[in-house]
Amino acid sequence: MSSVPSQNQRVVSGMRPTGALHLGHYHGVLKNWIELQHSHECFFFVADWHALTTHYEESAGISDSVWEMVIDWLSAGVSPGAAKLFIQSRVPEHAELHLLLSMITPLGWLERVPSYKDQQEKLKERDLATYGFLGYPLLQSADILIYKAGHVPVGEDQVAHVELTREVARRFNHLYGREPGFEAKAENAITKMGKKNAKLYRELRKNYQEKGDIQSLDVARALLESQQNISVGDRERLFGYLEGSGKIILPEPQALLTKIAKMPGLDGQKMSKSYGNTIGLREDAESVEKKLRTMPTDPARVRRTDPGDPEKCPVWELHQVYSGDDTRSWVQQGCRSADIGCIECKQPIIDAVLAELKPIRERAEEYTNDPAAVRNIIAEGNEAARDIARDTMDDVRKAVGLLYR
Ligand code: TRP
Ligand code: SF4
Repeated sequence: MSSVPSQNQRVVSGMRPTGALHLGHYHGVLKNWIELQHSHECFFFVADWHALTTHYEESAGISDSVWEMVIDWLSAGVSPGAAKLFIQSRVPEHAELHLLLSMITPLGWLERVPSYKDQQEKLKERDLATYGFLGYPLLQSADILIYKAGHVPVGEDQVAHVELTREVARRFNHLYGREPGFEAKAENAITKMGKKNAKLYRELRKNYQEKGDIQSLDVARALLESQQNISVGDRERLFGYLEGSGKIILPEPQALLTKIAKMPGLDGQKMSKSYGNTIGLREDAESVEKKLRTMPTDPARVRRTDPGDPEKCPVWELHQVYSGDDTRSWVQQGCRSADIGCIECKQPIIDAVLAELKPIRERAEEYTNDPAAVRNIIAEGNEAARDIARDTMDDVRKAVGLLYR
């Protein structure tokens, strides 16, 4: 196993431009991003090429969706001061890495990714027997590896893609991390840490390699992370040398599972555009209120005087997202005893959702009226992302042997 240097706290995630975002995206993904942007170096991008893998026949609409989605992100609180926001296709290095990774990725790995067959089944009306669609998760791997990301916040459905990314990185490092004279270079790098640390590193490495002592591995990693006097290349060599692999060029990322896995929709199913049970982030107050007022409740409560069971009611699921303990016990008690009516029960949710959406809607209006500001934010993000992507590609080309200098 190759190491994920825990020093690598960089976070990368992408989203396909699928049209107006809704509360499912907000609670499932964006709130998580907004939290991470303050604790980690974050790169968030619009995966416009990924949109093409399934919607190549409707490519003309993609760019509008991209800008709309960026406005949704910004309005929800993703901050260009804290995170870098960019568009995948504006960093063409992703495509170059994808190409190089495609050379070493066995077809079976891609065919085995669960979303491959699932999506083909689900999107029957589209012809997805394409090269690009098969490569979808590998392009995602390139998106992640090009930033040497440590963490990838994703939903459950994307975990298999991060797993593939780890396998591909491991294979790449195995094939190309064996630079000529690796051992000698690693030994030389050890001496640069100073006598005391060099001795410690050797001991820890021996403990790990000969006795499989994981704790020694962890301590040795921490030691490497704390070294100020060695170059990035040497550090990567020493991480690889520690574990008996070659130099680690592309570190393996970890999936960071989103806490709220499932935001309930208006009908109790997961909120999703395909179920038609969403509340849009920029939906106007009147329409939001109407949707909530008319959303279904426990079907057994036909009359106001019939007692109900919150467990059978989608409104209760929303209380679990939006209400505190007091309100929740008020619902439990009032529903089961028919003390409260359903409209009454829905009111705290209506208030909470409207309060949540109001600032988002206002910011969206500002950004909509200032497209130049949005474009500037993305231009800056594109540049910052490209700087890193270029550096990684230099390493990658060098490792593969494509450096014509
Ligand atoms: N496949 C992801 C999705 O559908 C989007 C995506 C593309 C992504 N590249 C990524 C997510 C890289 C995380 C990291 O949601
Ligand atoms: Fe659902 Fe509330 Fe009506 Fe009970 S009172 S059925 S929980 S909406």
